[in-house]
Amino acid sequence: MKKGLFITFEGVDGCGKTTQLTKTKEFLESKGYDVVVTREPGAGEIGNKIREMLLHYNGNISDKCEMFLFLADRAQHIENLIKPSVDKGKVVLCDRHTDSTLAYQGFARGQDIELLNKLNKIAVNGIIPDLTLLYDLDTDIAQERVGLNKDRMESVNIEFHKKVRNGYLSLQKKYPERIKLINANNSIEKVFEQTKDIVLQLIQEKRGI
Ligand code: TYD
Repeated sequence: MKKGLFITFEGVDGCGKTTQLTKTKEFLESKGYDVVVTREPGAGEIGNKIREMLLHYNGNISDKCEMFLFLADRAQHIENLIKPSVDKGKVVLCDRHTDSTLAYQGFARGQDIELLNKLNKIAVNGIIPDLTLLYDLDTDIAQERVGLNKDRMESVNIEFHKKVRNGYLSLQKKYPERIKLINANNSIEKVFEQTKDIVLQLIQEKRGI
């Protein structure tokens, strides 16, 4: 059986990755691929409940509770949607995944990176992205794009988001084969040109086109 592809989209809040994901979906579907679009946190029924707690709960959530909630969401998501879809030969496009936990809970909140690597490993059960697209954008510009209607994570101060950005950049340096850096400070079309080139290269490498 032909195995599918798993591609994750990462970056600071407001970097434009969701727009690029939608354009990637349309492009791949036009080429005849069977595409599944999903996101973390919040795929499926349990995922949506976890998302509600993580992004819209007004009370205090401890850093460890937050970490486990993101990981619990991931474990359910991998088991129920990502793994079965990849096994069926589909192309899974996922808005945020393991690198978000490393950047936000690790580099920005200060949870131990090695611990997060171990927990991520348990949650993903061997499913690693074939490609991660990292949309890099200055955090001041990104925060302006987010606007005033911020959720719980987006409402944390700008220093936090700077740490997230730097965290992502160091992850990219550590895993340059998997994580491809894209300059998101450009028009949607220009950013998509970069996205498309990288995705096409992956498809050529993995399965021919
Ligand atoms: P979302 O509304 O999906 O934001 P975006 O459109 O920017 O992706 O909210 C997800 C938020 O959760 C975002 O601020 C990043 C954060 N997050 C973590 O802190 N850790 C994680 O593991 C994941 C998946 C997301």
